[in-house]
Amino acid sequence: MKISTQQTPYNNDPKIIVALDYQDAASALKLVNQLDPALCRLKVGKELFTAAGPQFVTELARSNFGVFLDLKFHDIPNTVAKACTAASNLGVWMLNVHASGGLDMMQAAQQAVQSNENKPFLIAVTVLTSMNQAGLNQIGVHTDLATHVLNLAMLTKQAGLDGVVCSALETKILRSKLGNDFCLVTPGIRPANVSQDDQSRVVTPADALRNGASYLVIGRPITQANKPLKALEAIHNECVHLSTLD
Ligand code: C5P
Repeated sequence: MKISTQQTPYNNDPKIIVALDYQDAASALKLVNQLDPALCRLKVGKELFTAAGPQFVTELARSNFGVFLDLKFHDIPNTVAKACTAASNLGVWMLNVHASGGLDMMQAAQQAVQSNENKPFLIAVTVLTSMNQAGLNQIGVHTDLATHVLNLAMLTKQAGLDGVVCSALETKILRSKLGNDFCLVTPGIRPANVSQDDQSRVVTPADALRNGASYLVIGRPITQANKPLKALEAIHNECVHLSTLD
């Protein structure tokens, strides 16, 4: 199964993934109930998963929203493979691992996902965007950060995974090196004229898609908006408009 990039009509494959960065299920559901599954998917990260549990993820996944379970597994291959099987069994649309877990770990994860009935998309985190060159050096990696991101993305592709999470500023180079079938999921997205919050290097939804992003992870511009559905619709319309220009 391949992630679609340009080929799928926009309405069958919404590009926006809303980050449910909430402390508990009730707060997350309050937002989810205001959103439209035709316009977005949902991301559940470590905070909400730890607080609300796998049952909550199963319920979300049974609704019409696709769920990206963002738990970034990183362990020995056998453990990660089993975690990927357990995550796949929840019915999620996408899950992820750390590419720095290595080729064997990613291949084991991919095998687990492929042999699961649900077959979610499996992507990898290359270098966390909270990391800078000094941070990489501290953990003994002396390769230039951009090169390290590219090397890990190429290793991810070699392992047979569907794509990577990357900064929207890295999409152009990764798209050109890794081809159109590779999925690029990008956070750090801010529509023009909204607060950047604590994100320092942001890109607009249209620019991210123009640069080759497959999916856009967007949190606060939607979750903190006075009218979350209106904010989602505005970004969705920007994405659809762009796709009709292609
Ligand atoms: O609210 P905001 O749009 O900044 O949320 C972005 C989401 O993407 C959060 O869930 C954040 O943890 C996640 N993320 C990120 N940068 C990364 C990886 C994930 O902002 N490099």
